[in-house]
Amino acid sequence: MRGKNAIVTGGNGAIGRAIALNLAHAGCNVAVIDLACADDVCAAIAATGNYAAAVTADLSNPAAARAAIASATEALGGFDILVNAAGIVSAGSFAKLAGAEWDRVLATNLTSVFTCCQAAIAPLRQRQLDNSGECGGRIINIGSVLAKNGGNARPWIDPAEQDRSGNVAYAVSKAGVHTLTSYLARELAADGITVNAVAPGPIATAMTTSFPEALKSLIPAGRMGTAADVAAVVAFLAGAGAAYVTGEIIDVNGGLWSD
Ligand SMILES: NC(=O)c1ccc[n+]([C@@H]2O[C@H](COP(=O)([O-])OP(=O)(O)OC[C@H]3O[C@@H](n4cnc5c(N)ncnc54)[C@H](O)[C@@H]3O)[C@@H](O)[C@H]2O)c1
Repeated sequence: MRGKNAIVTGGNGAIGRAIALNLAHAGCNVAVIDLACADDVCAAIAATGNYAAAVTADLSNPAAARAAIASATEALGGFDILVNAAGIVSAGSFAKLAGAEWDRVLATNLTSVFTCCQAAIAPLRQRQLDNSGECGGRIINIGSVLAKNGGNARPWIDPAEQDRSGNVAYAVSKAGVHTLTSYLARELAADGITVNAVAPGPIATAMTTSFPEALKSLIPAGRMGTAADVAAVVAFLAGAGAAYVTGEIIDVNGGLWSD
């Protein structure tokens, strides 16, 4: 992937950072977009010998998201790969969830992906023209197993647990990401741009430290996933070998859910 340019949103977080570094080790220049400053991630990318840029933006704000993609595009001089990994977790039962929390989660996890993908289409198409169609553009979104299994609604087991693990807004936001992915894949297929999602199960990051042990023990592989498990599948989807894979939602969940 030497010479390819990638944008990774949420690249200052656990999974986004692993994705950004994996792509850099594969030869990509990487621009990281995040709420928080990503200077140490950029230093690690630069240490691979590739170019790194950090763009700070609140991607839940559509104008800021469009401006961030434009800044990252300019910094890289065009790009081939967009990975949408920015996201937030949210907990609470359906019955108690506040409307403001629903709006916050949908804006951060779903509207941001819509806006970043839309802003990426013109630069990705341009890149295709510049590269004469060779090894086309890639959009890779990070979804979730919770979009497939209906989230962790389990009040019949432990109603109190719902305050920590119920997550309707999160599950719905990720289901939107999955459907956006399969829709956009077909809209961009003729451009040689693939659009796929990776749907992780519970991954050992700050996002899951408060997960109940009872949920972790349901994973057939017997362990939580790692950010590296997710980053490896993203790297495959970003590479030349996945040129004919599009519209897929690939599970990385240790057997927790299969379809
Ligand atoms: N950890 C898991 O178990 C798990 C499972 C399935 C899916 N995911 C998804 O993987 C992605 C990464 O999760 P993670 O575990 O690395 O979490 P994380 O909290 O470590 O990283 C998320 C990153 O997104 C950034 N971010 C959040 N809101 C933002 C905004 N409005 N604008 C810009 N950046 C913003 C954060 O600053 C952070 O750096 C998320 O989309 C998450 O939903 C995580």
